[in-house]
Amino acid sequence: MNESIDKAVALIGGAKKVVVFTGAGISTESGIPDFRGPGGLWTRYDQDDFTISNFLHSDATRKKLWQGMRDGGLMDDASPNAAHLALVELEKMGKLISLVTQNVDNLHQKAGNSPELIRELHGNMQMLICLHCGRRYPVTIVREKFADSESVPACEVCMGILKPDVVFFGEALPQDVLSRAMMEANQCEIMLVIGSSLVVYPAAYVPVQAKQAGAKMIIVNRGPTEQDHLADIRIDAAAGEVMTSIIEKIKAAGS
Ligand code: APR
Repeated sequence: MNESIDKAVALIGGAKKVVVFTGAGISTESGIPDFRGPGGLWTRYDQDDFTISNFLHSDATRKKLWQGMRDGGLMDDASPNAAHLALVELEKMGKLISLVTQNVDNLHQKAGNSPELIRELHGNMQMLICLHCGRRYPVTIVREKFADSESVPACEVCMGILKPDVVFFGEALPQDVLSRAMMEANQCEIMLVIGSSLVVYPAAYVPVQAKQAGAKMIIVNRGPTEQDHLADIRIDAAAGEVMTSIIEKIKAAGS
C-alpha cells in the first residue's frame, strides 16, 4: 500500500487540477452506513423499495422508507472524519477544481470545503420538500415531530407528502450539476475516487469521462469497484488513513 500511496502523492503533488469523486465509503468512518459494503443499507433493505414510484405509492411504503432513513442515519448529527478533512487541505493547497459527491450527508460542507466547489449529484438530506406546495423543512423535524416509526412527515401547511431533497431511484439527477461535473472531469489532470463502488449511473460516468479525457485515475476504496480496470493507482484501504497519509506526504514534500 505504501508504494501506491507514494505514487499517488507524486501524481497529486505535481497536479494543479484535481477533481475528487466521493461515495458513501468516505462517510462510514463518520458512522453513516454505506450501501453495498459489508453491512451496507442494501444488505438490510430492499433497494427496490427506495424508488420514487414506491415512495409516492402509499403511506405504508413511505413508513418503511422513513424507518430505513432513520436507521441509515438522517445524517443531521454526523461529523466529518479524517478523509473529509484531508479534502479541505487539498482545497487549501489550491489543487481542487471540484468535489463531486454522490453523498447526501452534507459532510463535505461541514468539514469546510467551499460549497461552490461541491457538486451534489444526488441532492442533500438536510432538507425535506413538500411535493404539493414546495415548502422546505429541515430534516431535524423528523426527529422533533415524527420520532416514532408510525408517523410519516407531512407538510404543516397543506399536509402534502414531504420527501427528502435527494434523488430517488427512478428520478433524474439535477442536470445542471451533472453537466458541470462532467465538464470539470473533462478538464482535470487527476480524478481521485474515494469510497464508491462505481455501480450507479449516470453518476459513475464522471470518473469515466475524466479517464477518457486523459486524466490519471486514482481509486481509494476498500474492496473492488466497477472501474478498477481504468485506475492508474488503486489503494484498497480505509479512506481516513489513506487520505491523511497522502496529504501529510504532499505537505512534507513541499509541493
Ligand atoms: N474507506 C474506503 N472505502 C470504504 C470505506 C472506508 N472507510 N467504507 C466503505 N468503503 C467502500 C465499500 O467497500 C464500497 O465499495 O466504499 C464503497 C461504497 O460503495 P456503495 O455502498 O455502493 O456506495 P456508493 O458508491 O456511494 O453508491 C452510489 O448508490 O444507492 C445509491 O444513491 C445511492 O449515492 C448512492 C449510490
